[in-house]
Amino acid sequence: MTWGGSEVRVLHRAPMKVLAIETSCDETGIALVEGTKTDGGFEFNTLKDTLLSQAALHAEFGGVYPNLAKREHEKNLPVLYREFAGDECDAVAVTAGPGLEPALWQGIEFAKRAARERGLARGMAEGVPLLPVNHMEAHLISSLAQPQGRTFALRGVHLPVLALLISGGHTEFVVMKEWFAYEIIGQTLDDAVGECFDKVARMLGLPYPGGPEISKIAAAHRAKAKIPKRATGHTTEESGPKERVEEFLPKLPRPMLQSGTCDVSFSGLKTAALYALREQALDAAQKAAFAAEFEEAVGDVFVAKTRQALSLSSAQTFVIGGGVAANLYVRGRLQKLLDDEFPDVEFRLPDPLITGDNAVMIAQCALARRLAGLDDSADESLRANGNLALQGPTLDRGSSRSDL
Ligand code: KG4
Ligand code: ZN
Repeated sequence: MTWGGSEVRVLHRAPMKVLAIETSCDETGIALVEGTKTDGGFEFNTLKDTLLSQAALHAEFGGVYPNLAKREHEKNLPVLYREFAGDECDAVAVTAGPGLEPALWQGIEFAKRAARERGLARGMAEGVPLLPVNHMEAHLISSLAQPQGRTFALRGVHLPVLALLISGGHTEFVVMKEWFAYEIIGQTLDDAVGECFDKVARMLGLPYPGGPEISKIAAAHRAKAKIPKRATGHTTEESGPKERVEEFLPKLPRPMLQSGTCDVSFSGLKTAALYALREQALDAAQKAAFAAEFEEAVGDVFVAKTRQALSLSSAQTFVIGGGVAANLYVRGRLQKLLDDEFPDVEFRLPDPLITGDNAVMIAQCALARRLAGLDDSADESLRANGNLALQGPTLDRGSSRSDL
């Protein structure tokens, strides 16, 4: 459209369809999501969602092997893309970082081609807009959106928001005082919590990804325990295994509880687990008790640090996101903290189905930004950035975004 003789770019119209691509780690995802701006927020409708997990392939290495991930994305993307052959879209969104660079590159180059192709199909010279998305922002924004039947509603969010982002590569407390402007107030000084789950699971002989496995056996242990979870966590009903468990079970450290900061550290916990498990041939009951003790250590750390971060940020909304946010024990501990000590803070818990990496969250984030009027579009020079940071509040972003 033109206005006063010059071309006006329409940044958003409703509804808007985004085709999104995610390849930052070991999941290949493509999704088509329609977004609409509504009163005080947005509504997202997932039209199509595809995901291929490489977890089974990486299991052999006990973690993600970057060049294997790259090769798999290269193979998987065209297969998934076929599902979208007849679909129109207004923009193509893609994860630009953070993540494994060789894996990110596959998604980005594919997205560039898709944007061109989709534009040509609509008679456009330059292709549809290409929207780079920060993977951590996508975890945050999509976790704030609440499922309502087939749609997700992102509305009624009171700022400031405190987000605890916990995944295989990141562990950070992020404050959003204004929409889409972020400040990290605490983070891991070494390992990410998901990585720690995966490593400890490996020490216990459990398959990759280890988080869900640890969670499963720890929950079974607690369910068996006579006195539920927080008492001692070490007592089981059967006397044989119970004695063996009590004889073996070490108390793991809760690192940095007294640091006075919102930073966390998991390498000490990982090393303590390594020493405790070295040269041990544990039976199933002992492994389950150890997994429960490990989860309790992680839970204690997050409860203490979230208390600190909530006080420091005066947040009105608390949200958790990332793969580890699916952990039921951690969710329960944080829910209890908010119920007991911060009853006025709204706790937004993401649907466990979208806490792991997926393309729907990438589409939701791109749509939220676009529909709010931010112009993120990139051109052919878009590059993968394995260390892409969240944008801070100091950037010039025009008018203040205390409302959507
Ligand atoms: O966000 P995500 O899917 O990928 C990254 O961006 O890293 O997170 C993956 C991590 C893995 O370390 C996995 O073990 C962990 O999330 N995870 C869990 C659970 N489900 C996934 N950790 C603990 N409990 C779970 N239920
Ligand atoms: Zn992730």
